[in-house]
Amino acid sequence: HELSHIRNFSIIAHIDHGKSTLSDRILELTGTVAKRDMQAQLLDSMDIERERGITIKSQAVRVSYTADDGETYQLNLIDTPGHVDFTYEVSRSLAACDGAVLVVDATQGVEAQTVANAMLAMNADLEIIPLINKIDLPAAEPERVKAEIEDGLAIPADDAVLASGKTGEGVHDLLEAVVYNIPAPEGNGEAPLRALIFDSYFDAYRGVVALIRVVDGSIKKGDKIRMMATGTETLVEEVGARHPQEVAEPALYVGEVGYLVTGLKDVSQVKVGDTITLADGGVNDPLPGYREAKPMVFTGLFPIDGDQYEPLKEALEKLSLNDPALVWEPETSHALGFGFRVGFLGLLHMEVIKERLEREFGLDLLATAPSVEYHVYLKGGEMVSLHSPQEMPDPGSIDHVEEPYLKAKILIPPDYVGAVMDLAVGRRGNFVTMNYLSQTTVEMLWEIPLSELILDFFDKLKSNTKGYASLDYEMDGYKPSQLVKLDILLSGKPIDALSFIVHKDKAYDRGRVLCDKLKEIIPRQMFEVPIQAAIGGRVLARQTVKAKRKDVLAKCYGGDITRKRKLLEKQKAGKKRMKAIGNVEVPQEAFMAILKVD
Ligand code: GTP
Repeated sequence: HELSHIRNFSIIAHIDHGKSTLSDRILELTGTVAKRDMQAQLLDSMDIERERGITIKSQAVRVSYTADDGETYQLNLIDTPGHVDFTYEVSRSLAACDGAVLVVDATQGVEAQTVANAMLAMNADLEIIPLINKIDLPAAEPERVKAEIEDGLAIPADDAVLASGKTGEGVHDLLEAVVYNIPAPEGNGEAPLRALIFDSYFDAYRGVVALIRVVDGSIKKGDKIRMMATGTETLVEEVGARHPQEVAEPALYVGEVGYLVTGLKDVSQVKVGDTITLADGGVNDPLPGYREAKPMVFTGLFPIDGDQYEPLKEALEKLSLNDPALVWEPETSHALGFGFRVGFLGLLHMEVIKERLEREFGLDLLATAPSVEYHVYLKGGEMVSLHSPQEMPDPGSIDHVEEPYLKAKILIPPDYVGAVMDLAVGRRGNFVTMNYLSQTTVEMLWEIPLSELILDFFDKLKSNTKGYASLDYEMDGYKPSQLVKLDILLSGKPIDALSFIVHKDKAYDRGRVLCDKLKEIIPRQMFEVPIQAAIGGRVLARQTVKAKRKDVLAKCYGGDITRKRKLLEKQKAGKKRMKAIGNVEVPQEAFMAILKVD
C-alpha cells in the first residue's frame, strides 16, 4: 500500500458507450475474475441494472496489475452511473479518483454526457485518458472521433487508446496508460483520518456499508468514527477491498479505496459526499463538495387494492434504507384513495423504483403523472411548496407561481438545429447559445422548464433527430410563470388524480389533446361517460366515451382473426391496471396520457 504504487481511477462515458463491458475486460485481464466466472457486466449487480444494461449505483473494485516495468500496482477502479439522474454520484466518485478514462464509442463520437462527464472530470482536476471504444465495429471512425475529442473537449487525443471491450484489444494499452499517466494519490498517512464516502448501501446482514477513499490517515476495525455532515458516530466493524467480492483487510491506508462496514441501520446516516473522521482527535474541516440529494420529480403511488397500503408503506421504508434520495409522504386522493406522494431524482429513478416495488414486493400500483415542485407565493407574502397539483391553493389567494428551470445542453449534427429549435420553443424553452464542437456536432444550450422536460421531451428529441441528439441538464433555479391548474372531469365530477398544472398559453391545447386521448383510453362502460377539461369552472374541451355495445367482437366484420385477437388482448391488458373511480373504470394509461401531449 505504498502511495507510489496505487492508482485510483474512474471510467466515464456517455450511456451505452461500453464502460461496463470494458470494466469486465479489465477484471479478466488482471486475473481478478477467472474467465469462466465472468458474467457479462459483473459490476452491474442489481437485477434491473443488468436487464436494462444501465449502471445505477457506483461500484468500486480493486485489481492488482503487474505492469511492463515489472512492478505490481494496486488499481482501484470506480465504475460510475452514466445517467443524468445520478450525476451527483458521478461527481462524488470522481472526487475519489486521481484520473479518469473517458470512453467514447468509435461509431457514435462525442455525445452530451461525454461532454458533461468530461467537464466533471476536468473540474475535479483529474488526469484524463481518452479511449476510443468498439473499434471492432465496421462503422468505427476513430480518426473522426479523435478530432471531436480534441476540437470539442480540448483534450489531446493523439495518444488516445484504441480499444474494444468486446474483443479485449487495447485493454493492456489502457492499463499501461493508467499506470504511467494517472498520478499516484497524495495524502498524509500520519495525519488524522479523513475519508470521503462516495457510495453507501444497506446490507441486510451487516448494516450500512460505505465505499470510501482514504484521503489522510488510515482506518481499521474497532476505530470510533464520526460522519461529519450527519454527526453520526459508530465503531468500524470491518474494512477491506472488493475483488469484486469483499475481502477484509487489516486497515485501509492513505490513498486507498475500499469498503467500510458500519453496523448502522439507516443509510441516511452515511451519506454520499460526507467526510469520515475519528470521533476522538479527528479533524474539524471536512472534504469539500458535500451536497444533499434533492428530489426533482414527484408522483402519486396508489395501491390498486386498498389492502396493499401497509405493504406499500413497508416497501417504501425498505427501499429508503438504501436510497437517501427517495422521499415520500402519505397522500390522499378522492379518486384513488390512500397512497403516497413520492419524490425522485428524475424519471429513470422513478421508473426503477416503481418497477422494484412491483417486482420485488409484488405490489400492484397505480402511478399518477409525474410533476415538479412549484413555489406558490400567496398574496400575504407566504411561499408554499407544491408537490402535487391537488394542493394548488385557490387562484384568488395567489400572488404568483414559480417553477423550476433547467439548463439543458443538446448535442446534434448541424442538420437538426431547426428540428431542435421547433421542439424546444414549443416546450417554452429559451435559447441561450449554440456552438460548433466540430464540423459534425453542434452544442445548443437552452433554458427549459423542468415540467416540460418530464413530458416526452427526450423521446421527441430522439425521434425528431433520427436518434442523433443527446441531452444533459442541470438545475437552473426557479422562475415566475403563468401557471394554472387544469381539472379533468369524468361524468361531471373533477378527478383530482388526473388534474395537472400547465402554462396558461398551453392549457387549451393540452386540455383538448388530453380529452381526445382519454376518450381512446377509457374503455366503454354500460353508460355514456363525458370527459371535460376545465380551469376553475370554465370548460375548455369535451369528449364522450360512448356506451358499450354488447359484444366487442361484433364490430369485427369478416372475422379477421388477427384483428380479433388484438382486440381481445387489448381488453385483457386493459383489465390488469384498472381502478374504479366512482362508477367509471379508469386504466393506468389514463394517468400517464398527459405525458404524451403532442
Ligand atoms: P451504462 O452502464 O448504461 O452507462 O452503459 P455502458 O457504457 O456501461 O455500456 P455497456 O458496457 O453496457 O455496453 C453497451 C452496449 O455496447 C452493450 O450492448 C455491449 O455489448 C456493447 N459493447 C460494449 N463494448 C463493445 C465493443 O467494444 N464492441 C462492440 N461491438 N460492442 C460493444
